[in-house]
Amino acid sequence: MVRSVKKFLIGLILVIGIMLIHSKQISSKKTLKKNLCRSFEDNFHKDKIVYIEDYDGNPKCANWVDVSQARGAYSIHSGKLKAILHKPKGVQGRMEDEDGACNTNIGKGLDLNSTYMMHYGTVSVEMKANRVGGVVTALCLMSREGDEFDWETVGEDIKHAQTDYFYKGAHKTGVDGIIHAFPDGGTIDSDYHTYTIEWGPNRTIWSIDGITVRTLERSSNFEDGIYKYPNKPSYIKLSLWDGSGCNGTAKWSNGPINWDESPDTHLSYIRKVTVTCNPKYNKVVTDDDDDELSE
Ligand SMILES: *[C@@H]1O[C@H](CO)[C@@H](O)[C@H](O)[C@H]1NC(C)=O
Ligand SMILES: *[C@@H]1O[C@H](CO)[C@@H](O)[C@H](O)[C@H]1NC(C)=O
Ligand SMILES: *[C@@H]1O[C@H](CO)[C@@H](O)[C@H](O)[C@H]1NC(C)=O
Repeated sequence: MVRSVKKFLIGLILVIGIMLIHSKQISSKKTLKKNLCRSFEDNFHKDKIVYIEDYDGNPKCANWVDVSQARGAYSIHSGKLKAILHKPKGVQGRMEDEDGACNTNIGKGLDLNSTYMMHYGTVSVEMKANRVGGVVTALCLMSREGDEFDWETVGEDIKHAQTDYFYKGAHKTGVDGIIHAFPDGGTIDSDYHTYTIEWGPNRTIWSIDGITVRTLERSSNFEDGIYKYPNKPSYIKLSLWDGSGCNGTAKWSNGPINWDESPDTHLSYIRKVTVTCNPKYNKVVTDDDDDELSE
């Protein structure tokens, strides 16, 4: 009796041991699985944007998915992407809340996602933004989990651009968002500026025209036992949006837009985007690979 119990116990320990080794192998395989990411340069000489309703989920088919609320939020002319913000249909719905004036009816503008996600890497965008108060032009990295890095310009505050980040959707107001003057003294709309986010596993650097204006260290964000530092594969997003909304948005963006007295559209321009995926964390796809695959 005792013997068979012993045998049973030894057998049990063996089985558990094998299961443990197996699960470890599975988890190490998991950590080896890299994110698929496309390194590319888009000069907008070809239209490589597909509208969300026409997108079959195959990232090889384009550089960008147009996730704007309506079609017609961009056009492409001689190597420039013209982002278009349209006046909302109907009345603008002007009201006052505790943050001041705002609109309840919001205009629709461009919202592009890269077709591939990037897990660490560098994104640069050459952009000429809009100077009308309430108009927001943005380059973001955004994960499905709510991790985010931003470069944003808001109208009226034409001598500055803003950087921000979120960890799992959480944001420390007044700490995470920072306003930067252009190192060369320019304005958001006077010329093209190059906005860069260099996102690494330990450090993120935001720069304008090649000059670093902000550095975020992963190590300085250790809180409640975890590093509150964006670390999930993220879409690259380019957007032009109406910041006239209530509850503080209009106040932040120097809005609301007074559509009764402004043109029916507001524009921003992007002439080049460069994406370089970090090869240590991504399986890097290039346009050449895609051409081969589609042949
Ligand atoms: C676009 O990006 C957002 C933010 O990361 C994500 O939630 C959404 O699923 C993406 N949509 C597509 C079609 O890629
Ligand atoms: C990031 O920091 C960790 C821990 O300090 C270190 O082991 C790793 O090599 C660093 N990675 C890079 C890319 O610097
Ligand atoms: C603004 O906040 C109020 C109260 O929290 C909420 O009821 C309302 O839906 C919000 N409005 C918008 C446009 O988000």
